Amino acid sequence: MRDVDPLSMAEEARKNLGTVLDPARRSALGQFFTPPATARLMASVCNLVRERVRLLDAGAGVGALSAAWVAEICARPVRPREVILTAYELDETLIPALRKTLIACARACAAAEITCTWKIHATDFIAAAVNDLDGGLFCTEHSVFDVALLNPPYKKFHAESRTRQLLRRLGIETSNLYTAFLSLAVLLLGDGGELTAITPRSFCNGPYFRPFRQHFLQHVSLTHLHVFAARDAAFREDEVLQENVILHAVKGVPQQPRVCIVQSHTPDDPIRVERDIPFERVVRPGDAQVFIHLVTDGEGSALAEAMEGLPCTLADLGLCVSTGRVVDFRAQQWLRARPTPETVPLIHPTHFDNGLIRWPKADTKKPQAIVSNLDSASLMVPAGVYVLVRRFSAKEERRRVVAAVFDPATVPCEAVGLENHLNYFHEQGAPLDWMLAWGLSLFLNCSPLDTYFRQFNGHTQVNATDLRSLRYPTRDTLIALGRRVQGTLPAQDALDALVVDMLKVG
Ligand SMILES: C[S@@+](CC[C@H](N)C(=O)[O-])C[C@H]1O[C@@H](n2cnc3c(N)ncnc32)[C@H](O)[C@@H]1O
Repeated sequence: MRDVDPLSMAEEARKNLGTVLDPARRSALGQFFTPPATARLMASVCNLVRERVRLLDAGAGVGALSAAWVAEICARPVRPREVILTAYELDETLIPALRKTLIACARACAAAEITCTWKIHATDFIAAAVNDLDGGLFCTEHSVFDVALLNPPYKKFHAESRTRQLLRRLGIETSNLYTAFLSLAVLLLGDGGELTAITPRSFCNGPYFRPFRQHFLQHVSLTHLHVFAARDAAFREDEVLQENVILHAVKGVPQQPRVCIVQSHTPDDPIRVERDIPFERVVRPGDAQVFIHLVTDGEGSALAEAMEGLPCTLADLGLCVSTGRVVDFRAQQWLRARPTPETVPLIHPTHFDNGLIRWPKADTKKPQAIVSNLDSASLMVPAGVYVLVRRFSAKEERRRVVAAVFDPATVPCEAVGLENHLNYFHEQGAPLDWMLAWGLSLFLNCSPLDTYFRQFNGHTQVNATDLRSLRYPTRDTLIALGRRVQGTLPAQDALDALVVDMLKVG
């Protein structure tokens, strides 16, 4: 057979898959295959030098990552003598192409005088890894790998699912396949072993990923994070709109003092901005949430320092942030399209209007009112001034954090229902002072806050935990800010100038 380079072989297989793959199965198995430029970039990040290297490619697809890694090591001046490739792939329709890629890998290795053996496990990686790592009485040793190269499937699973129960056997708490794959790969690595993975950025913050972050950082030293300026850069042809990150970490060594953060527009962009950042700027010491901050430039660093240097936590201000209590499908029986004498206003993100809540709205299909009686009372908050923040923003929206003031002077009511797609700031359950609310809204709506927020939040969801983790100006400063505007949100430039002038955080 003609010698074909393994990555071209995997790429040909990937291109042919479009016609073969069933879209439903594709979504169930989280199948987004790595294009060659991204695979090459990932392989180039692995720098382990050993005589014998055991590679783990879990969720291997058609083998693009194994192929890129083999191409990379064959081209290096210092090469291993022996490589052992282990691929796990659950979808049997991909196995013939994966086999062809691994055969091409072995040929490429032979040409570079490297002995190569390979094995495909056409099975569930999670079940196999858990069994391997938790083999019970009769198993004393589990497989050990030197390099794990992953583009794991992205898919949520339920708290009651078998996958979740399997992972609990190893004390792994996570609800997404990609973090499950990463946690298991880390456990399967030997000391000094390297993990390189491309994943969504969502693990960097958010309460659901906290156990994962803790587990992960307990086992590895984070060395390298590569972010793409364009949201869809890593998987262009698959129209993946997640923000992705390539991470590289080394198992079983103490966390190194500095982490390399790289930003490029696309994987093959020759222009890259690389910065070595102290680890404490990536994960703040003592941060109970263990957020991972991705600061890509010097200005970003200065901004982070200014935002984190603000004097108050939310608790210092005596304030709280909660998620709106009205979940549409649970409160169905109380919801009404329009206000009636027995209802109070129900506020959705659709009622946001340039920094204020305008209610009711003429052109919305959302129920705009909620019956107020003894049974629904627990869903209401007392009438008064609150600052509301949308929990979800549209992908390409200018700002991630969008706040508006709810003011009973504009929306007269005795109580109000706040829908679950909103977070709201309150004073221990009670409404806010009007001036304080406007100052807080200005602060939340300013561009520096938004830029800073994106350093640790790579998706479009704004969690109450994220807002709780921020630092804030003092109450007096917020009130002084609120005093500068008379109940209307200034244009963005003017707003930014006001906040920057008052806080010196620009
Ligand atoms: C995001 S794709 C990446 C494929 C390949 N690594 C690449 O980079 O092109 C994830 C792959 O994991 C496979 N997969 C999903 N769940 C799996 C499981 N539980 N065990 C093994 N493979 C799985 C999917 O079929 C898919 O091929």
